[in-house]
Amino acid sequence: MCGIVGAVAQRNIVPALLEGLQRLEYRGYDSCGLAVIRDHGLERARSTQRVAELAQQVQLEQLSGRLGISHTRWATHGAPATHNAHPHFSGNPPRIAVVHNGIIENYEQLREELSAEGYVFESQTDTEAVAHLVDSLYQGDLFEALQQACRRLVGAYALAVMSSDEPDRLAGARYGSPLVIGVGQNENFLASDALAIAGTTDQIIYLEDGDLVDLSTDTVLIVDRDGNDIDRIVHTVQAHMAAADLGPYRHYMQKEIFEQPRAVSDTLQDIDEIVPELFGAGAAEVFEEIDQVLILACGTSFYAGLTAKYWIESLAKIPTAVEIASEYRYRDSVPNPRTLVVTISQSGETADTLAALKHAKSLGMPHTLTICNVATSAMVRECELSFITRAGVEIGVASTKAFTTQLAALFLLAMALAKSKARLSSDRERELLRKLRHLPKAIAAVLALEPQVMDWADRFARKENALFLGRGMHYPVALEGALKLKEISYIHAEGYPAGELKHGPLALVTEAMPVVTIAPKDELLEKLKSNIQEVHARGGELYVFADADTNIRPENNIHVIRMPEHYGMLSPILHTITLQLLSYHTAVARGTDVDKPRNLAKSVTVE
Ligand code: G6P
Repeated sequence: MCGIVGAVAQRNIVPALLEGLQRLEYRGYDSCGLAVIRDHGLERARSTQRVAELAQQVQLEQLSGRLGISHTRWATHGAPATHNAHPHFSGNPPRIAVVHNGIIENYEQLREELSAEGYVFESQTDTEAVAHLVDSLYQGDLFEALQQACRRLVGAYALAVMSSDEPDRLAGARYGSPLVIGVGQNENFLASDALAIAGTTDQIIYLEDGDLVDLSTDTVLIVDRDGNDIDRIVHTVQAHMAAADLGPYRHYMQKEIFEQPRAVSDTLQDIDEIVPELFGAGAAEVFEEIDQVLILACGTSFYAGLTAKYWIESLAKIPTAVEIASEYRYRDSVPNPRTLVVTISQSGETADTLAALKHAKSLGMPHTLTICNVATSAMVRECELSFITRAGVEIGVASTKAFTTQLAALFLLAMALAKSKARLSSDRERELLRKLRHLPKAIAAVLALEPQVMDWADRFARKENALFLGRGMHYPVALEGALKLKEISYIHAEGYPAGELKHGPLALVTEAMPVVTIAPKDELLEKLKSNIQEVHARGGELYVFADADTNIRPENNIHVIRMPEHYGMLSPILHTITLQLLSYHTAVARGTDVDKPRNLAKSVTVE
C-alpha cells in the first residue's frame, strides 16, 4: 500500500527519504517518487521501477534539498505509470507538491471544479485534485491552505504537502490512513509508519484521525479535527532496526517463518492462569454479558478467525460467526447487543476491517475486542478491549508469524470465554496451558522438517494448480495454505473441506493436480483416509502431512511427510507451518519476488 516519507531538516534529506522508501518497500508498491525544494523551485524524480532505480535517477539528476517528500504508490486510480506516480505538483511554475495514501472519494467533483478554474490535470489520480485544491486555496500560508483543503475532502487520506514559497515548512494531515511524526534533532519527519524512519529517529508521535501537522526543523504543531492545538504523546519506539535485518535468511518471509517459536513464546509470555484481564480492564464484565461472538477480518487474519470459531464453540460453547470485513460492512445483518465483536488484524490499519468494526458499533454492538500486532494502531484505539500479539514487525507481505501469534491469542480468548462461562475446569485449564507453553518447542520441531518440504517444493514449482484439503479445524488451515501458495508462487490453489471433494473439485483431479492433504490424528482421520482414496483412485497425486500414528504410508502417488507429534486442539498452528514452508520454497524455486508479490500490499489502508 502507498507509503509516505517527508522531511524538513538542516541537511540534505534525500538519503533519508530514499532509505525511508526502501524501508517501506515491504508494504507493496508499483511506482515511486521523490520531490525536493531547491533554490525555491520544486524538483522531482519518479519511476515505475524499484526504489533502487529511483535512487539512481536521483543521483543522476543530483537532486538534493533540506525539505522533501517521497512516496511509494500502490495504484488505485490510474495505471502504475510515471505520470501517475507521486509527488503531484500544482502551479505554473509548480509551487505545491503532494504525496497521498488513501482514496479521495469526491475527486471527480473536485476535478471538475478545478478544471473549470483552469487547472490542467496530468494524471488519472485522485491525488492530483488535492494538489490543485491546495494550490487554489494557497495565499502564502501552506498550513492554512491544507486545513481549508481538508474540509473539502471526502474519503481517506494521509497527506504530506510542501510549497516552494515556504522552504522550511512541511505540512501533513491524517484521516483514515496512517501517518506518524518522527521527531529528530533539528529535523522532523512525516511517515506512514515508524519503521520508515527508524534509521533516523526513534521518537514517534502517532497522529489521530482528523489531525493536521505543521512542521519546521525545530517545531511540531498539531491541530485536531476541531482546529484546537493539541499535544500528542511522543513514544520511544524500539526494535525496529533489528526487524529490518535479514540475518542468515534469504528472504524476510523465511526469517519470519523461523521466528515463530520466539514470536509465539513472546505472545504467550508467562501466562500461568487464564484471567479476563489479559484482554484489558473490564473484560470480565464484558465476557459475562455476551452470548455471541462475531469475528471480522480480512485475508490471512480472516482464516485465523475461522479457526477460532472451532475453538470458541468447542471450549466456550458460544455461537460464533466469522465474516469477511468487506462483505459484512455492506450487507444487512441482524445485530445482537450481547455480541462480542472481535477484529483480527496484523497491522491494525486495514481499511475494511476498521470500517466493519465501526459499522458493527453503529448497529448497537458496543462490546469490541481486537487481536492486533500493533499496539498504537487505529484498531486498538477503536476497540474497548485488546490483546497485542508480539510477533514483532512482519515485513514479508505474506503473513506467517502474525498468523500463528493470532492463533495463539485466539486460543487464549477461547479459554478465557470458556472460563467466564464456567465451562473450563481447572484441570483442563492446566492441561491446555501446559500445551501452550510447549508450543514454541513443538513449532521448532516442525521447522526441522524444512529439508523434506524443500524436496516437494521442487516438484510443486512445475505445477499451475493445486488443491488443499483439510477437515474440521484444519479446513481453515487448508484455506490459508492455498492462499499462501497463490500469493507468493502465483500457482492457482484452492482450499476445500475434504468432505466436499465429491461435490465438485474431484472433477479437477488428474495427474496434473497435486492435492495437499492435512492429516492430523483426530476423530475425522478415518473419513479423511477415505477422501485420500477418492483422489488416489482417480490418478491424483497426494502430498500428505500426516501426524504420527495415522498409519498413512507413502505409496505410488501418495507422498507423506510425518509431523513430529499430534497436538490436539492446537494442531492447526503446527500444520500451518509446514504449509508456509511449502509455499515459500515453491516460490523460491519459481524465482518470484517472495517478500513483495506482484499487485499485493502488506497493509491495505484503502477500501
Ligand atoms: C493484506 C496482506 C495480508 C493480510 C491482510 C489483512 O492483504 O497482504 O497478509 O492478511 O491484508 O491484514 P491485517 O493487517 O488486517 O491482518
